[in-house]
Amino acid sequence: MAPRFFVGGNWKMNGTLSSGKELISTLTGAKLDPNTEVVIAPPALHLLGAQQALQGSKIALAGQNAYHKASGAFTGEISVSQLQDASIPWVILGHSERRTLFHESDADVAEKTAAALSSNLSVILCVGETLEQREANESINVVVRQLDAVLSKVPQDWSKIVVAYEPVWAIGTGKVATPEQAEEVHAAIYKWAGEKLPKGQAEDLRVIYGGSVAAKNCKELANKPSIHGFLVGGASLKPEFVDIVNAKL
Ligand code: G3P
Repeated sequence: MAPRFFVGGNWKMNGTLSSGKELISTLTGAKLDPNTEVVIAPPALHLLGAQQALQGSKIALAGQNAYHKASGAFTGEISVSQLQDASIPWVILGHSERRTLFHESDADVAEKTAAALSSNLSVILCVGETLEQREANESINVVVRQLDAVLSKVPQDWSKIVVAYEPVWAIGTGKVATPEQAEEVHAAIYKWAGEKLPKGQAEDLRVIYGGSVAAKNCKELANKPSIHGFLVGGASLKPEFVDIVNAKL
């Protein structure tokens, strides 16, 4: 049986308290596919307000990032344990913007992932290649390297990890990967999982696609056998996010 379809909305550094509340009421008022797991990631400052607004809803919340230490002199950071303490169940880690703009290495992402799982969070783990790496036919090697780094710190249990393949060249560009391009890398990730994860975990792993997903392209992508959901940026800030959640209907 295919793993449960998963759609995440990464709001990034966007919106105000009122626009976030408005967006959430659009989502809680919409008819969402009950077979799709939905997680949204507002800016950290908005998480607790969003938690209030989502009471009674099946939509879960995620932090967009977190630090691996539980507490200490790390000005500006939010720790995985603080997310857990605030009953925020998910966290996005390794997003390409964290890797490129904020210089997070594969080792940093691996350490954060292990710490998040130890704090009983679920993790949306982002991997993906740059345009230069794709043009050099390095896409799969890059993604495998990023996954291997996390495996070295998380060798046993990937049941609370969703892998998000986000080709950097498709993020925020409107240049969505073709279903064939995405499927090729997703299939390679499942091959990696089958070879490297403990027995039985590869079948349950969700590998989702991110990078210019929109209402107009989500259904074709969702029909690919190795694409089990989306991590949505820009379109998650719009009512069309509902159509993306309902891509399998
Ligand atoms: O994390 C999702 C994001 O990187 C994709 O952004 O705007 O291309 O959907 P966007």
